[in-house]
Amino acid sequence: MSKLKMDRRQFLQRSLIALGAGGSALASAATCIRTRAQGQGPYYPEADLNRDTDLTRLDPNGVLAEGEIIELSGMIQDSACKPINGALVEIWQANRHGKYEHSQDVNPLPEDPGFQYWGRMTTTADGLYRFLTIVPGHYPLNPRLVGTKPTGPGQYRPPHIHAKVTARGYSSLTTQLYFHPDSYDDTDTQDLVRDLNQWEKVPSDLVVRYSLDAMDKHKPRAGVFSFTLTKR
Ligand SMILES: [Fe+2]
Repeated sequence: MSKLKMDRRQFLQRSLIALGAGGSALASAATCIRTRAQGQGPYYPEADLNRDTDLTRLDPNGVLAEGEIIELSGMIQDSACKPINGALVEIWQANRHGKYEHSQDVNPLPEDPGFQYWGRMTTTADGLYRFLTIVPGHYPLNPRLVGTKPTGPGQYRPPHIHAKVTARGYSSLTTQLYFHPDSYDDTDTQDLVRDLNQWEKVPSDLVVRYSLDAMDKHKPRAGVFSFTLTKR
């Protein structure tokens, strides 16, 4: 269970405000466009452990994960922008240093014993999902590049969170969510993420948008991304 206490109504209100501020489709809109799919990549979780919605700790009394904590939330909706009940939402990602917990990840980057690396939840009738996680690091496509700075395309992946959404009666969706450079406080990191995003031609419709709550320094930044599925 998550340890960030939040009343369900408060969460719904925050999410709806964020959806409006982020430019995603409002519930009153006639149609929502299917979310763009992207590759699953090689690091889909190998174990079915600790897949709750709080990735910032392995257990309630455990060590806090490294990195900036963010709340990632949004709606799972159909092409009529109606919430989907019973959708399974899975996310998996690298830790703050760009390292996955996966046997195929051979990059010599630091592991984070406090980080959960993946999570999942199933939506109810409101179609809303929510995870507490951290902003992932970027990582090189070749282990020999570890310790070097990216100088062009094809060397590093920009920070991203992998996501897979499945729901009965709908085509399953696998994609990746990215971060806007302005999401970061540090100007050097902003420049780096900007370069990586441009080199990889990150689609703007796959970028996590931050709600107005991002202005409150006492709360985690609230990143919003809604997924639209189409019927089979
Ligand atoms: Fe990845």
